[in-house]
Amino acid sequence: MTINSSNRNAIEVEHLTVSYHSRPALLDVSITIERDQLVGVIGPNGAGKSTFIKAILGFIHPDIGTVRINGQDAQKAKGQVAYVPQRGAVDWDFPITVEEVALMGRYQKIPWYRNPRKADREAAREALEMVRMADYADRQIGQLSGGQQQRVFMARALAQGNDILLLDEPFAGVDAATERAILEVLERAKAAGKTLVVVHHDLATAAEYFDKLILIKQRLFAYGPPSAVLQEDLLSEVYEGRLRVFTDVLKKESA
Ligand SMILES: Nc1ncnc2c1ncn2[C@@H]1O[C@H](COP(=O)(O)OP(=O)(O)OP(=O)(O)O)[C@@H](O)[C@H]1O
Ligand SMILES: [Mg+2]
Repeated sequence: MTINSSNRNAIEVEHLTVSYHSRPALLDVSITIERDQLVGVIGPNGAGKSTFIKAILGFIHPDIGTVRINGQDAQKAKGQVAYVPQRGAVDWDFPITVEEVALMGRYQKIPWYRNPRKADREAAREALEMVRMADYADRQIGQLSGGQQQRVFMARALAQGNDILLLDEPFAGVDAATERAILEVLERAKAAGKTLVVVHHDLATAAEYFDKLILIKQRLFAYGPPSAVLQEDLLSEVYEGRLRVFTDVLKKESA
């Protein structure tokens, strides 16, 4: 893949409109995400955050608008973006080991007529080391805790070797220690030159974790540094009745 070195943009979204059964989930969203950033996507339930991620992946055809990945049309660039789905979307009873899950990240790059090579196994192993799950390589995925499963799925995405990673709520349902561990992986991936777009639910940690935030509810309400996005008027418009909790967060942050 050749990337125009003057093109600093990892993801370019223009006038993106996506509907399910003619009900719009995203309306006229335009946004440019530069390389080497750790970007959080926030917004209430049903705001269209997962839809936004899936449209960037090229999984969903927009009604209107375009998505470009490294300057290329998203449909053509499908293999260039790694994805960690929202947890409910995965069948954890599937009989497969941790190592095999990580190796699945390589399958896009392995032609159908050959088995994984040593280099593929090494990439999978390295990714498991990055998320500190290499010691569990032979375990069945269903026998891990939720936080460990989440890290294995991050390893699968990292093993792909792509520069852009999209993660849909990687922190959902994990304890504080696992949350730290996952954040560390995100930061290491960023230091290694990756661009990460992460759906995140917790406004209390959003400013600490991310370089930039995308605030979305059907439309794009704000995009920029956390201090610019976590504004009371914006949050009250987007989160409506649930604002009180968040004004407490803002007070705590400015204290
Ligand atoms: N496959 C689908 N078919 C029909 N409607 C859908 C589908 N997926 C999502 N929707 C609807 O589109 C809207 C946006 O959903 P989406 O999953 O993108 O929201 P979200 O911000 O990720 O929510 P959550 O925080 O609950 O994960 C919702 O109203 C949802 O019901
Ligand atoms: Mg979602």
